[in-house]
Amino acid sequence: MKEEVSVLIDEDRVAERVRELAEEINRDYEGKKLHLICILKGSVFFTCELAKYIKAPVTMDFMSVSSYGDRLTSSGCITISQDLTMSIEGREVLLVEDIIDSGQTLSYLANMLGKRNPASLKICTLLDKTTCRTTDIKAAYTGFEIEDLFVVGYGLDYAQKYRNLPYIGELRLKED
Ligand code: IMP
Ligand code: MG
Repeated sequence: MKEEVSVLIDEDRVAERVRELAEEINRDYEGKKLHLICILKGSVFFTCELAKYIKAPVTMDFMSVSSYGDRLTSSGCITISQDLTMSIEGREVLLVEDIIDSGQTLSYLANMLGKRNPASLKICTLLDKTTCRTTDIKAAYTGFEIEDLFVVGYGLDYAQKYRNLPYIGELRLKED
């Protein structure tokens, strides 16, 4: 199969939207400290870029979860390959995700992290495929709502490739 990537959301628009999200977050967390949890690897670019524009004192931690193999559809099977290094008890936690599809990953994570007694736990996602949702998970902050497409770039991968694209692209697989 041949892989083709076309620009869906260009670099400037992504950058602009990330700053807008940071402004919203700045308003909501004024006077508070914020603990960002980056879900590896997909949200690493987004988390770092967002963090640069957050005015509250920020701490960061990383967690590695996978629900996808090298396939284009969700496996529904979530495994935690790397847990957090810090306690989240009493912290204002913002879970930063690249994309919500079925919502199974975040539903599982929010439930698990909620039991660790954070002061608050909210979700910030760069992309949201709202029509694909099979759970009732909702993000407090959403960059872009998109159609049911397979997207890559700005951290998102297909079989570990394309994460470094500076834009969000649509991936199509074509017969050779
Ligand atoms: P969910 O559990 O179905 O919501 O899937 C969420 C995870 O699937 C995301 O964190 C991504 O890692 C991955 N994913 C879902 N849709 C896409 C996509 O279009 N491109 C790349 N990864 C995706
Ligand atoms: Mg992910």
